[in-house]
Amino acid sequence: MTLLQASKLGTETLSLAGIENAANESIWILESVIGKTRSEIIRIPSEEIGEDLLETYKEKLAERISGRPVQYILGKWEFYGREYYVNEGVLIPRPETEMLVDFALEYLKGRKNPVIVDLCAGTGCIGLTVASLIPDSQVYLVEKYDEAFAVLERNAEGVTNAKAVKGDIFDEKLISSLPQCDLLLSNPPYIRHADIPSLQSEVLREPLTALDAGEDGLEFYRTLGKIYGKICKGAAAFECGEDQGAALRELLPGSEIIKDCFGNDRMVVLKEL
Ligand SMILES: C[S@@+](CC[C@H](N)C(=O)[O-])C[C@H]1O[C@@H](n2cnc3c(N)ncnc32)[C@H](O)[C@@H]1O
Repeated sequence: MTLLQASKLGTETLSLAGIENAANESIWILESVIGKTRSEIIRIPSEEIGEDLLETYKEKLAERISGRPVQYILGKWEFYGREYYVNEGVLIPRPETEMLVDFALEYLKGRKNPVIVDLCAGTGCIGLTVASLIPDSQVYLVEKYDEAFAVLERNAEGVTNAKAVKGDIFDEKLISSLPQCDLLLSNPPYIRHADIPSLQSEVLREPLTALDAGEDGLEFYRTLGKIYGKICKGAAAFECGEDQGAALRELLPGSEIIKDCFGNDRMVVLKEL
């Protein structure tokens, strides 16, 4: 079978299974299996794929049809134009989370050697992106769970101004060990416990520990507000759920709610007076 035929087979297989983005996903999977980019594949459409690689490609298409998110199949995903390693131990980076990076870049513009803390770091996509874009910054990223921490450490390799810290943000000793910072960032778990079963089936393939935020979905923000008072002399930006703005304004006095491009509550910001 040629590469062109394989790519068509992939698109047909995924669209028959009702996968919306079938054409892109099939080519991404093909790229990762044969180790060639889309533009290389387009230049050699009649090259044979080879039996073993075809078998691997079909297996990965079957995984996708079974509901495994394409990002976990690829083992990587893009955030703010950078590639991050992902697996089932971490939340897949979302485009809306890029708002926190935009805020950090704007807020820290012109500051020398800023110190930034990213709590509930997962892949590290927020803090590592900021560290890479502000080379004179020092970024501390905190993650509690073993599997997520392993991913964070892997993504942090080579980012010399970033330090991955293993720990629980509810542990006061851990928080006291962090330096005073200019900016506190976090995309914490924020889904109400009762809403978890109604999430899309693909979201349910992501770790529950990255999603579940207790009875009212605000458990993490209560602690983040206290941590802000303790270790931050500048601003804080936390991602939030689309219906959490009013509750967060009440919970974090003086905070501002920023909406995303769809008009939904997406980020809560605290700034020094
Ligand atoms: C919503 S995910 C966000 C991951 C990443 N920051 C992002 O934006 O893609 C929340 C992360 O917090 C971690 N986490 C959950 N509870 C934690 C805790 N008590 N202390 C530290 N990290 C925690 C989860 O393992 C998960 O990686």
